[in-house]
Amino acid sequence: MSGAFPDEFLWGAATSAYQIEGSPLADGAGPSNWHVFAHTPGCIAGNENADVACDHYHRWREDIAVMRELGLQSYRFSLSWSRVLPEGTGRVNRPGLDFYDRLVDGLLAAGIEPWPTLFHWDLPQALDERGGWANRDCAEWFADYARVVFARLGDRVDHWMTLNEPWVVVDGGYVFGVHAPGKRDLALAPLAAHNLLRGHGLAVRCLRAEARGQVGIVVNLEPKDADSDWPADLEATRRADAYMNRWYLDPLVKGRYPDEMRDIFGANWPTFPADDFKLITEPIDFLGLNYYTRSVNRADAAARPVGASPVRQDGAVYTETGWEVRPGSLREVLGWIKSRYGDLPIYITENGAAFADPSPDQGGRVADRPRLDYFRGHLQAVRDAIADGVDVRGYFAWSLLDNFEWACGYEKTFGLVQVDYATQERTIKDSGRFYRDVIASNGLALDA
Ligand code: FCB
Repeated sequence: MSGAFPDEFLWGAATSAYQIEGSPLADGAGPSNWHVFAHTPGCIAGNENADVACDHYHRWREDIAVMRELGLQSYRFSLSWSRVLPEGTGRVNRPGLDFYDRLVDGLLAAGIEPWPTLFHWDLPQALDERGGWANRDCAEWFADYARVVFARLGDRVDHWMTLNEPWVVVDGGYVFGVHAPGKRDLALAPLAAHNLLRGHGLAVRCLRAEARGQVGIVVNLEPKDADSDWPADLEATRRADAYMNRWYLDPLVKGRYPDEMRDIFGANWPTFPADDFKLITEPIDFLGLNYYTRSVNRADAAARPVGASPVRQDGAVYTETGWEVRPGSLREVLGWIKSRYGDLPIYITENGAAFADPSPDQGGRVADRPRLDYFRGHLQAVRDAIADGVDVRGYFAWSLLDNFEWACGYEKTFGLVQVDYATQERTIKDSGRFYRDVIASNGLALDA
């Protein structure tokens, strides 16, 4: 399909607090578990941390100017919980809230809709020390934090996201230990997942009761294809699909976990109180989808806990993070959401690619053709999905800026805008210029 996107389609870009802000302890903020994790030797490539990152904490005005240059209509960012509540609960750190208050006002003054996410992985360290998400109380702590934020920003924000990618929080933080809090504990993982979902439900209730605006949750989905039609491969692929794609959406929409979760976690899979699902299924206004890639799977008993391993595809293009470039799988997963979960309005809340970029040339151009092609292909897939009848309402490119890519440090760059960390200079890449043209033409530039 060619042509323009629907008139009201929303164009934006996304970031997250720990990845761009820097100054994690400034003005009375408490440490987050990501701050502690990044300062633990051996956890991050090159032992990097985000003490400075993109220095967005000081350069946010300049960054809003860059957003204007790109013509963004909306900006998805996250709040650092421990800037707002240094101990995670109780005492509010006013300067932390002030920072987000100024950011929201600055965006609105620039004609850019603020789309905040309450939790994009950086849990206050004080709460981690009380058991973090594995502690049932963490859901209430999260709702208390949400209440403080809604009270301050709720008069100006029309769209909220509760959690970013709970699957990654649990898989990286509690199953494989490659993200904060660095645990490998199959007994804690199902509890952490469940309490994330309860926290989400409580925050939704809190918004309905005390603020206005729409609210959604952000999940990352990755279609799982089987390497062969051998029964063992098909079953492994089904488990991989349950683990990554249905573990969160099934309880959110259908009020129950997929049956495969018991096969995956065995005796570690608990029985949850039935009442919890009333909370978890609290209706949301939209679903945020983060899509990067798909995977092809084969049975592999040694690959705990799922028993599936990814198989590299001959002839396919892979990004620097080892993710296969496959726009058709985005169209497919959008159709799958509609057929399995119904007609939820969907926003693509992240989509993008890490490729090694050249430095700016003499004319100041950063020629990042592979990323430009990635965006073009995936935006065409979104347009196809809309033509298929899927209610996709907006798209946020990941990411506005090159930034701290979690355990990968600064090496993997996803930005529409290059950041020179020595000078903090920002340079719009060719992909950013292309995206600007796409926005300005409401998608027509995809066909140029
Ligand atoms: C997603 C995260 C985001 C970024 C991208 C590349 O899983 O939500 O913060 O790291 O991947």
